[in-house]
Amino acid sequence: MKKQRGIQMTTPILLHISFILFLFSVTCHGHSELNLLLNLKTAMIGPTGSGLGDWVPSSSHCSFSGVTCDDESRVIALFVTNLPLFGYLPPEIGLLNTLVNLTISSDNLTGKLPPEMANHTSLRLFNISNNFFQGRFPGEITLGMTELEVLDTYNNNFSGSLPMEIIKLQNIKHLHLG
Ligand SMILES: *[C@@H]1O[C@H](CO)[C@@H](O)[C@H](O)[C@H]1NC(C)=O
Ligand SMILES: *[C@@H]1O[C@H](CO)[C@@H](O)[C@H](O)[C@H]1NC(C)=O
Ligand SMILES: *[C@@H]1O[C@H](CO)[C@@H](O)[C@H](O)[C@H]1NC(C)=O
Ligand SMILES: *[C@@H]1O[C@H](CO)[C@@H](O)[C@H](O)[C@H]1NC(C)=O
Ligand SMILES: *[C@@H]1O[C@H](CO)[C@@H](O)[C@H](O)[C@H]1NC(C)=O
Repeated sequence: MKKQRGIQMTTPILLHISFILFLFSVTCHGHSELNLLLNLKTAMIGPTGSGLGDWVPSSSHCSFSGVTCDDESRVIALFVTNLPLFGYLPPEIGLLNTLVNLTISSDNLTGKLPPEMANHTSLRLFNISNNFFQGRFPGEITLGMTELEVLDTYNNNFSGSLPMEIIKLQNIKHLHLG
């Protein structure tokens, strides 16, 4: 009898503790991803750019336009298209490594693609078409993107030879390098 009561007492306490831990982890992800997206916004909006008006600290990052989250409030899709941003894609993009879809197209972004993109090993769709990204396309970022099905880099300012790494993309269905 005594033993049973012991169990009955501890179970709710354990539940309570794991609930607090769960809330803590959700809040942590929430906070860091919110700040990440705000940093992303600052970088992507160049001196003459504008857009992403509802990406503000007082909102939940999962309600930002163009942002899709999973059940744990982690960003799994970004759809930022047709905005006059004129900035660049910062290295912090690598920290959003739960992304499955990344479309940042027709935004007039400039600069080089950050090598930190290599962290996006869950990516299925990667669309950076219609920007002014320049320099070499860093083919090595695709080496870990084993799930990639769509790669669209159409109409940018890339230079240099074709990235040979893309021949290793076994799941690719749509490739546009024009
Ligand atoms: C990613 O894009 C594909 C194709 O457009 C779509 O079917 C899928 O629902 C998207 N996934 C997310 C998480 O947005
Ligand atoms: C991008 O720049 C071009 C001029 O180079 C302009 O015609 C176009 O409207 C711009 N796109 C956006 C979304 O501002
Ligand atoms: C890749 O993602 C992991 C896990 O989120 C993170 O710890 C690491 O710093 C990221 N690396 C880069 C280069 O962004
Ligand atoms: C990439 O985005 C552009 C819009 O800027 C769209 O027209 C194009 O169809 C997209 N590519 C793919 C493969 O979905
Ligand atoms: C893109 O390349 C064109 C010529 O190929 C050049 O006129 C333009 O200045 C470049 N734009 C940027 C933002 O690098």
